[in-house]
Amino acid sequence: MYIKNVKLENFRNYKECNVFLEPKLNVFVGSNAQGKTNFLESIYLSSIGKSPKTNKEKELIKWNENNSKVTIIVKKEYFEEEIELYLRKDSNKSIKINGINIRKIGDLIGEMPVVYFAPDEIGLVKDGPAYRRRFMDIDISQLNKNYFYLLCRYEKVLNERNKLLKQTKTFENLFETIDLWDIQLADIASKIIYCRLSFIDSIKIPAKETHSNITSNEEELTINYQGINLKSIEQIREKLYKSYKDKLKSDYELGFTSVGPHRDDLEIKINNIDIRNFGSQGQQRLATLSLKIAELCLFEKQTGEKPILLLDDVLSELDQKRCKNFLKQIENYQTILTTTKFSRKLGQNSAIFNVRQAVITKQKKV
Ligand SMILES: Nc1ncnc2c1ncn2[C@@H]1O[C@H](COP(=O)(O)OP(=O)(O)OP(=O)(O)O)[C@@H](O)[C@H]1O
Ligand SMILES: [Mg+2]
Repeated sequence: MYIKNVKLENFRNYKECNVFLEPKLNVFVGSNAQGKTNFLESIYLSSIGKSPKTNKEKELIKWNENNSKVTIIVKKEYFEEEIELYLRKDSNKSIKINGINIRKIGDLIGEMPVVYFAPDEIGLVKDGPAYRRRFMDIDISQLNKNYFYLLCRYEKVLNERNKLLKQTKTFENLFETIDLWDIQLADIASKIIYCRLSFIDSIKIPAKETHSNITSNEEELTINYQGINLKSIEQIREKLYKSYKDKLKSDYELGFTSVGPHRDDLEIKINNIDIRNFGSQGQQRLATLSLKIAELCLFEKQTGEKPILLLDDVLSELDQKRCKNFLKQIENYQTILTTTKFSRKLGQNSAIFNVRQAVITKQKKV
């Protein structure tokens, strides 16, 4: 699978833009503030239904305009698919796939899976556990739509349980009424944890191998799920259900549920050192990149399709040797990469596009 064509109308700083991409490496080169990140954002938006940068979708519409449209044509093995995304100042966004309106974002997710990497994605390793949960959740949702719906249900039931914890007058009353929520919550949560465990299990090895390849075997990357780590959904459910009971008193005092997938984390180590707290900036960046490449391998294995890699300004963070090793790792995927400088030496066969004041022009191959 690859993106053949991207058309933007009044999206961010683009008035109009129509770009035909190549199936392999596409490099977008330009000075600062020309529209490189905006271009990637339009693709991410058409894949996930959300911007990676903002929740305020109206910000995506070009200033002083009322409507915006992104059209993407994706080439799949046997057919082409058209994704159209409409943004309007005065109403909610709408999305069409092959001309048919879709009702839920869940119907879009997975149609054109992307793996996105922006400089601040380093937060995945460096920042709080919420970033790592988001990483797992977005990825698994792209692979498994049911997971996305499980998350939505989980949030609802969790909110209900938390409301009860906050609002029930006495602990005795709570004890009588909460069991119904505990049963439901343990049921949904155990499925979520199970999916996450299988996900981590599948990306562990490719992440480790990728990291070794990029660092010429200097660094060993290991990842582990931090939370309930049991083999079956039933075991996880029982353990969770018991934890809700064990923690009920303190949860009542806190006013929220303190155990479950919304509190779990991902442990990330290099050469056995926890790099969430003790990694260098470079190590944290590269580990994130290795995780992202492991996602690519997993997507391909599970869906039989190659996802698209969106890389915003990552090369500047790698030295020449690691940069070459890295590009070698991704050579079989369609990659859309932005940078302020690019030397042909790094990617002989890549398509290079110049981005200047929201105008994109393809460089002729020499
Ligand atoms: N809704 C909008 N309407 C018009 N212009 C916008 C809108 N949103 C952002 N911009 C402008 O788009 C410009 C380009 O932003 P973008 O982030 O794509 O730059 P970039 O080429 O990635 O630069 P850098 O190399 O610094 O990352 C910014 O200067 C910003 O002011
Ligand atoms: Mg940018």
